[in-house]
Amino acid sequence: MADILQNMHKVDVAEERQGEAYAPFAEDPNQFSKKFYIESYGCQMNFSDSEIVASILHDEGFGATRNFEEADLVLLNTCSIREKAEQTVRHRLQTFRKIKDNNPGMLIGVLGCMAERLKAKFLEEEKLVDIVVGPDAYRSLPGLITEAEGGQKTVNVLLSREETYADISPVRLDSNGVTAFVSIMRGCNNMCTFCVVPFTRGRERSRDADSIIDECRNLFERGFREVTLLGQNVDSYHYSPNPATPGQLGEEDTAVTFAILLERVALISPLLRIRFSTSHPKDITDDVLHTMAKYHNICKYIHLPVQSGNTRILQLMNRTYTREWYLNKVKRIREIMPDCGLSTDVISGFCTETEEEHQDTLSIMELSRFDMAYMFSYSERPGTLAARRYTDDVPEDVKKRRLTEIISLQNSHSRESYVNDIGKTFEVLIEGNSKRSDADWYGRNSQNKVVVFPKEGKDLEKGDYVNVLIGSATSATLIGQMV
Ligand code: SAH
Ligand code: SF4
Ligand code: F3S
Repeated sequence: MADILQNMHKVDVAEERQGEAYAPFAEDPNQFSKKFYIESYGCQMNFSDSEIVASILHDEGFGATRNFEEADLVLLNTCSIREKAEQTVRHRLQTFRKIKDNNPGMLIGVLGCMAERLKAKFLEEEKLVDIVVGPDAYRSLPGLITEAEGGQKTVNVLLSREETYADISPVRLDSNGVTAFVSIMRGCNNMCTFCVVPFTRGRERSRDADSIIDECRNLFERGFREVTLLGQNVDSYHYSPNPATPGQLGEEDTAVTFAILLERVALISPLLRIRFSTSHPKDITDDVLHTMAKYHNICKYIHLPVQSGNTRILQLMNRTYTREWYLNKVKRIREIMPDCGLSTDVISGFCTETEEEHQDTLSIMELSRFDMAYMFSYSERPGTLAARRYTDDVPEDVKKRRLTEIISLQNSHSRESYVNDIGKTFEVLIEGNSKRSDADWYGRNSQNKVVVFPKEGKDLEKGDYVNVLIGSATSATLIGQMV
C-alpha cells in the first residue's frame, strides 16, 4: 500500500503540494541588502500567498535566495489540513534549528494556516521560531521583522473581513514563465465539519474584479499563457463595485459573479488559457458551465470534490448536497461539455462511516468516472465542528484499507481515461522540457492531462500551442507526436 500512496503523492502536485520545498531567487541579488528564503506547503493558495509575501519583502530590501544557509530570514508557509501536513513542518523546523545554532542572527518565521491555528502557542512549542503571522496579516511583516531583529518574539494572527491583497503585485517565484496562479478570493464560509480552513483563513471575501483582470492582462503581456483563478470555493465569487444606492443601479445590476469574471478574463486574449480551482458541487451553476463551453480558451476541466458518495455522511460533513445532487451535476457537466475533464477529492473513514457507506463512495466513483483524484483518510483536526460533535471512531486500519480500495479503483479509472485518449489529437500549451529528456516537450491539454512529445527539431518555445496526436499513455501521462 505504501507504494500506491507514494504514487498518488506524485500525482498530487497540482492541489496538494505538502512537503514539496520551494525556494525562489532574486534576479539581481546585489539589488537587496538582506536575503530571505521561503518554503510553501499545502494548497495553491498558500503558494500564491508566498508570492505576495515575496513582494512585500522585496519592498523592504529583502531579496530571495534558494539557499537557506545564507538567509537572514527563513519563512515556512504552512498547512494544517491534515495532521501529517503539520508534522512535516515540525520536522522541517528541526533542520533549521541546526542552522540557527551556527547563525543565531537568522530569524525564523512561520506563516499560513498552522500559524493561524496555533497562534502564540507556536512560540512556546517551538522555541526557535521568532515570528508567527497568519494569512491575513502579511502586510504587518516588515514591522514584525524589525521587532524580531530587536530580539523580541512577535505574533500577528488577526483575521480580516476585507483583506484581499488586491493592490499587491505578486513576485512570481520559481515560475516557468508560462503558467501563473491568481487569487480571486480568500477565506471560506462553508463550514464543512471536517475542515480547518474556515478557522485558519477566516470569512470569505472576493477580490476587486478590476484588479484581477489587470493582473491577468499584465501576466499575458509578460508572456504568460495560462492563469489559474484560485479560491476555496470559486463559484461563490461575488464582487460588488458599487453597493446599491437608493434611486441608482441596484447592487445586483453591477455585481460580478464567477461566470462574469470568467468571461472577462477569457476576453483578454484567445491565447490566454484560463483554469480555476476549487468548485463546490452546491454552487457551480449552469451559467459557469455555459461560459466554459462558449470560450475555447477556458479549459475544459473541473475539480469537483465529492468527499463521500453517501448522503448521510455528506450531511454529517455539512457538504449540503446529496449523492443524487452530485451525480446530477456530473450529468450537467457532461451534457454541456462532453469533452470536459473531471477530478475530485475523496475522504475515507469519516466519523461513523459504515462499510456500506464506503461502498457508496466506490459506486459514485464508478458512476462519475473521474480522470484523477486526491484521496485521503480522515484526519481529525482540533477545533473543527467534527472534532467537537462527533467521535473519530473508524479505526485507523479500516480507514487505510478503505483508502487503498478507493486508490486502486481510481487508478484503474485513471488508466482507462488516459488509454481512451490514444488516437485523439489535443491542443497542448508547451510549459517546458520534459523532466525525463530535454529532447521532449512537456505541456498539458485543455483537460489538464500532462502530454509529452518529441521536439523533432522544430523551432518552438515554451508558451507556444501545438496539436499533438496521442500514441500511448500511462495512468498519468499522454505520449504523442506533433501533427
Ligand atoms: N475548498 C476545497 C478543498 C480544500 S482542502 C473544497 O471545498 O473542496 C482539500 C481537500 O482536503 C478537501 O477537499 C478534502 O478532501 C481534504 N480534507 C480536508 N480536511 C480534511 C481532513 N480533516 N482529513 C482528511 N482530508 C481532509
Ligand atoms: Fe473546507 Fe469545505 Fe471550505 Fe472547502 S468548502 S475549504 S472543504 S470548509
Ligand atoms: Fe492547507 Fe491552509 Fe490550504 S490548511 S490546504 S494551506 S488553506
